[in-house]
Amino acid sequence: MCGIVGYIGQQDTKEILLNGLNKLEYRGYDSAGIAMLNEEGISLFKATGRIANLRKRVDNSISATMGIGHTRWATHGIPSGENAHPHMSASGRFVLVHNGVIENYVELKRELLADVSFVSETDTEVIVQLVEKFANEGMDTKTAFQRALQQLEGSYAIAMIDREDSENLYVAKNKSPLLLGVGAGFHVVASDAMATLQLTDMYIEIHDKEMVLLSKDHAVIEKLDGTPVNRDTFQVTIDASEMEKGTYDHFMLKEIDEQPLVMRKIIEAYENEQNQLVLPPEILSATTGCDRIYIIACGTSYHAGLVGKQLLEKLAQVSVEVHVASEFSYNMPLLSGKPLFIFISQSGETADSRSVLVKVKEMGFPALTLTNVPGSTLSREADYTLNLHAGPEIAVASTKAYTAQIAVLAILAATTAKAKGIQTDFDLVQELAIVANAMEVLTQQKETIEELAHAYLDTTRNAFFIGRSADYFVCLEGALKLKEISYIQAEGFAGGELKHGTIALIEEGTPVIALDTQAGVHGAIRGNVQEVVARGANALVVSMQGLELDEDAFVLPHVHELLTPLISVVPLQLLAYYAALHSDCDVDKPRNLAKSVTVE
Ligand code: F6R
Repeated sequence: MCGIVGYIGQQDTKEILLNGLNKLEYRGYDSAGIAMLNEEGISLFKATGRIANLRKRVDNSISATMGIGHTRWATHGIPSGENAHPHMSASGRFVLVHNGVIENYVELKRELLADVSFVSETDTEVIVQLVEKFANEGMDTKTAFQRALQQLEGSYAIAMIDREDSENLYVAKNKSPLLLGVGAGFHVVASDAMATLQLTDMYIEIHDKEMVLLSKDHAVIEKLDGTPVNRDTFQVTIDASEMEKGTYDHFMLKEIDEQPLVMRKIIEAYENEQNQLVLPPEILSATTGCDRIYIIACGTSYHAGLVGKQLLEKLAQVSVEVHVASEFSYNMPLLSGKPLFIFISQSGETADSRSVLVKVKEMGFPALTLTNVPGSTLSREADYTLNLHAGPEIAVASTKAYTAQIAVLAILAATTAKAKGIQTDFDLVQELAIVANAMEVLTQQKETIEELAHAYLDTTRNAFFIGRSADYFVCLEGALKLKEISYIQAEGFAGGELKHGTIALIEEGTPVIALDTQAGVHGAIRGNVQEVVARGANALVVSMQGLELDEDAFVLPHVHELLTPLISVVPLQLLAYYAALHSDCDVDKPRNLAKSVTVE
């Protein structure tokens, strides 16, 4: 949530900041702003809404070689000009951008800043006012910055400019993501390397409770107590072209279409020369040595975890619990004796998941992260990481990361089964290749699916998704996709649960999308379809070859029954896409959302 970027070097910073913010817009788009320092002083520009609005406001005649920028997902205070970052201190000397949440900002205002009149409703403004307070007490800027940071409780990635110091940017991090990019004669900082990859591919990690004094040639990293830190650079290997839409109108559609390729990349990444799937031995000893797996995740990743539970239990015969991260910390179940925690996170930065990870590490339990961003916080802080190989996912609504998560969970389940000596007649390499082909067939049926979206979803305010067994988990995901991008109120239900209450909502014309891919529950889900049709529902049945009936709206190519979620989700993703498109919704950047949820 929120993205920050900062630059100090020799080039004009305006475009660097604006381009960087464009790449970070997925992190929030309620408002945006930049501040630049040159010999004339600080220039500050802010706008509500998108970076495009900010761009219109920036005075192009200003040139500066140092600057900071921010794109906001509002937490404290409505999206407005006053609440947009950068925030300035009362005298105008310091200006700062912040991603995170300062939990004790009310206390700090009351106890240390009672005489300051605040311009915004944000928690962030206390930071910049604190720095000024300490500077006014006679501290140099570095000490004032450090002193201010020492007062803060919560999460932050901060970049700050001092009007009286044109040589340094002041940077700090705790719990919110921040990377330091290194180039010849310049430094950049950004919430995500994607923002600055066009400038450099060499980065330095900044760890929690560290601050950096950044000049164009030097980066001095210290812990908050002043202990110096030396850290090597690493290379970020994302291909910048993967972050472009190309000929697509939306990233979401591009990412849906990339799913067959992602399946093939995953097979390639995890197979050995004998075409067998292999995982690092330490990961397999963790999965075979535990007595229970706890999967922790949020949103779409949680839905992938539900499918993963079924795969791990059926193939590897290990008990699995799946928990929503934000609930787990305070509703922690009675843990087994030898638990293994698996965190599933596309971004690897989700604060709710991270807070559980921190807790379980304190308890001394092993943790494995499945993520699309190998250098991310959840990846660094877990004992082991498995990469999803989905490539950058830019659309806020997750699609290819979901199917990648399921595929990697299937590999984890199959390799664990093998390591345990469990015999299966399941050749996962072959089955995933079949899945990739089936996905390709589905992505070529866009016209049919668009017509279905038109017929079933264009005029409705609500929709229900029903399924049993693995189909139920996909229904949860299908409903989430539809509601988050088209704003149609949608719910996923286990087919059998309908008659226990929800069926009361079915009226003439209510769209009910039913999945029928599981032979064992085929009769039961067909019965549920009849029940809703009898009450006026407009039922759209998505079945699988072998289970189809003549009247079915859409038939999926046949894949192994354990892997049906990988393909049954594709038409649901496309239905959501076209429903959103037909309502003129902003498909890639739905309202109120952000891609990387770094606040709890
Ligand atoms: C929905 C979506 C979210 C994320 C959730 C977790 O399309 O993308 O529900 O799945 O915010 O994010 P990650 O996977 O980055 O931890």
